[in-house]
Amino acid sequence: MTEKLRYLITGGAGFIGSHLSARLLDEGHRVTVIDDLSTGAWRNIAPLEGNPNFRAVIADMNDADLLESEVAPADFVFHLASAVGVRLVVERPVETIRRIVEPTERLTDVCTKYRRPILLTSTSEVYGISERIPFREEDPVVIGATVKPRWAYASAKMLDEFYLLAHHKETALPVFIVRLFNTVGARQTGKYGMVLPRFVSAALAGEPLVVHGDGTQKRCFCSVLDVVEGLIRVSRAPEAAGKVMNLGSDDEIAIGDLARRVLELTGSNSPVALKSYEEVFGPDFEDMHRRVPSLERARRLIGWKPVYTIDDIIRQVIDDKRKTKD
Ligand SMILES: NC(=O)c1ccc[n+]([C@@H]2O[C@H](COP(=O)([O-])OP(=O)(O)OC[C@H]3O[C@@H](n4cnc5c(N)ncnc54)[C@H](O)[C@@H]3O)[C@@H](O)[C@H]2O)c1
Repeated sequence: MTEKLRYLITGGAGFIGSHLSARLLDEGHRVTVIDDLSTGAWRNIAPLEGNPNFRAVIADMNDADLLESEVAPADFVFHLASAVGVRLVVERPVETIRRIVEPTERLTDVCTKYRRPILLTSTSEVYGISERIPFREEDPVVIGATVKPRWAYASAKMLDEFYLLAHHKETALPVFIVRLFNTVGARQTGKYGMVLPRFVSAALAGEPLVVHGDGTQKRCFCSVLDVVEGLIRVSRAPEAAGKVMNLGSDDEIAIGDLARRVLELTGSNSPVALKSYEEVFGPDFEDMHRRVPSLERARRLIGWKPVYTIDDIIRQVIDDKRKTKD
């Protein structure tokens, strides 16, 4: 029988955190979640509440006493709490930076004090406007100009990566950095700009599917179920400590085609409407045309690759939206 561990998950009431919590509880581990419900929601973790191995602390993680009392008894810390979503990043740039840099510094310092391993969910945004496809973890990155608020998210996450790696270098703290690419599935909200839940909700409501830009930009969508499997494998792979690892799908789809696939799978007659980036995000917005991870390191170190196809994922999101009417 595998050893039962105590996990601390910051941002555990969020989209990915709630799936991660459920999966670890299913394996019989103990899970404590810290979440201030800023972009997460109580309903994501409400079904877990009856489990005696689950505890939720609804609070801002940026509280030194709370971090001391929760990190010390934990065996492993998953740090997912963050500002998330292009819309939020563009509209609330100060909050974005505040919610990423300082909490990560505090948490990592406490992890160092108690020698607790920590995994940070960083982001493919870190690759910025690089055109070196597929993106490899140790390739140089190309970030856009600082006057474009979008790049604050990437730069703040990059600083987080540097901070964890610095602790690893100075005190051999086991740190794990995962750069997630577009992750989708049940419970994701479209409120902060995520494209698939927006499209599915619009299709089900008979409203237009609003495509930003001309729809030829491509992305790779990975099921949250695959991502959670990858996060857990990374956390159990000592050889991944002190390294960065991409997790995501490398199967590209143009956003216009994604809209058409959603219409087909929902059977909706909604129209597809194009809206310029400027109209949606203002004049300072910058986007990248393609974003594809190299999955070589994930394959080599944790034997991972995604299992679910884009159609599987769209169907999972449709089922979820039909149930929750979100
Ligand atoms: N979903 C994706 O496609 C994607 C892609 C790349 C990276 N990521 C990263 O994965 C992680 C999880 O993202 P998600 O998609 O589940 O988003 P999410 O918004 O659902 O989850 C983030 C959670 O953090 C909580 N939170 C934020 N600041 C907090 C604070 N100061 N104290 C306590 N809780 C706080 C929010 O309430 C939310 O529940 C984030 O670190 C994000 O940067 C996600």
